[in-house]
Amino acid sequence: MVPRIVVMRMLVMRSLTVAAMLLAGRGSAPTLDNGLARTPPMGWNSWNAFGLKMNEAMIRSTADAMVSSGLKAAGYQYIIVDAGWKANSRDAGGRLQADAEKFPSGMKALADYVHSKGLKFGIYTDAGSEDCVSGAPGSRGFEELDAASFAEWGVDYVKEDWCNTTGVNTRDAYKKMSQAILKTGRPMVFSMCEWGDNQPWKWAAPVANLWRTTGDSKDCWECGRATMNKPGGYPRGWVLILDAQPPLAAYAGPGRWNDTDLLQVGNSGLTTEESQAQFSLWAILAAPLIATNDLRFMAPEIRDLLANQEVIAVDQDSQGTEGTRVRAAGRGEIWMRPLADGSRAVVLFNRSRSRRTVRVRWIDIGSKPTDALPLRDLWKHQDLGIVKTGYTARVPSHGVVMIKAGPPAK
Ligand code: GLA
Repeated sequence: MVPRIVVMRMLVMRSLTVAAMLLAGRGSAPTLDNGLARTPPMGWNSWNAFGLKMNEAMIRSTADAMVSSGLKAAGYQYIIVDAGWKANSRDAGGRLQADAEKFPSGMKALADYVHSKGLKFGIYTDAGSEDCVSGAPGSRGFEELDAASFAEWGVDYVKEDWCNTTGVNTRDAYKKMSQAILKTGRPMVFSMCEWGDNQPWKWAAPVANLWRTTGDSKDCWECGRATMNKPGGYPRGWVLILDAQPPLAAYAGPGRWNDTDLLQVGNSGLTTEESQAQFSLWAILAAPLIATNDLRFMAPEIRDLLANQEVIAVDQDSQGTEGTRVRAAGRGEIWMRPLADGSRAVVLFNRSRSRRTVRVRWIDIGSKPTDALPLRDLWKHQDLGIVKTGYTARVPSHGVVMIKAGPPAK
């Protein structure tokens, strides 16, 4: 039996976590003053879908699919071309150029096409001498020239990676690119990708709109545990990324987000339940919702999952407070995010290998047991009535039940 004093201490710790979160999202460090990403960016990135093997036709047809699938209407905006677009050398004027075989029309034409669909265009570079795997030139020492090229092409979002950076000071390098982007006068979201190595949540808010918190995600549940702490951004299952987030929640807010990397939703290594769980928890984390599946050949259930308006509304909540884990009872966990209307988004998460019962008590989410909270199931799209004390659900293995609770009925 757990001694009473320990139980008391656990209860106090829990209410402190909830209280700290209710105050979060109001960090004192200034936020990058570019007016962008007031809610977490939503879009698609080429990396896990296509890797280096992509070309302009594939990106154009992905932009088409973003529209025809209804994902644009659901709020997805950015089509981001990750590593693999650059030629292996700069031009005579030192400017980056597109790989002429894969992108014969050039990046401006591609950006124009993406814009013609009512979408925005994102691009990838690296803070070091070379990109990570393609051998193409990085932006080290060329920040102003590269930012100017991006602006000229009509880029709306720049992701800057961290390979081949021996001897480079992280803060200086990202600050340089941030300032170079501002200097162009074109609004471009700035996304830092140094894998959390230098605790960017503590200093990057004035520099970037989002910063990666860990190494790369992979389409698996929790693979990569053994290698995840090695330098260089080794891929890992999304559950391992999730587990790294609770201490970081207070650093996020409008215009400054913890980036938990791409949504692996719909990629072959995840079950539909695992995809649904990642999507729900990313919404609790106020994470960027950047898909990286092949949008052109999506199963209908994956499309519906990515387009769930009620879960997207949680992710895009205007208050911008990042949620966190408020209770772990064995393999059943409660994650909660406070929302602008005074309600709470709550995920009942089952990490075990079999279906199990998970209960959220109102005290777990900062409410009183006597509060009568209107409940809504955000996946079934059903009202569940007005409930006191707590809510219990059967949750599939590696899956979630996601509800919105409150605000309290008067
Ligand atoms: C790094 C980044 C990834 C992706 C690849 C591309 O691993 O962390 O997000 O951009 O590079 O090479």
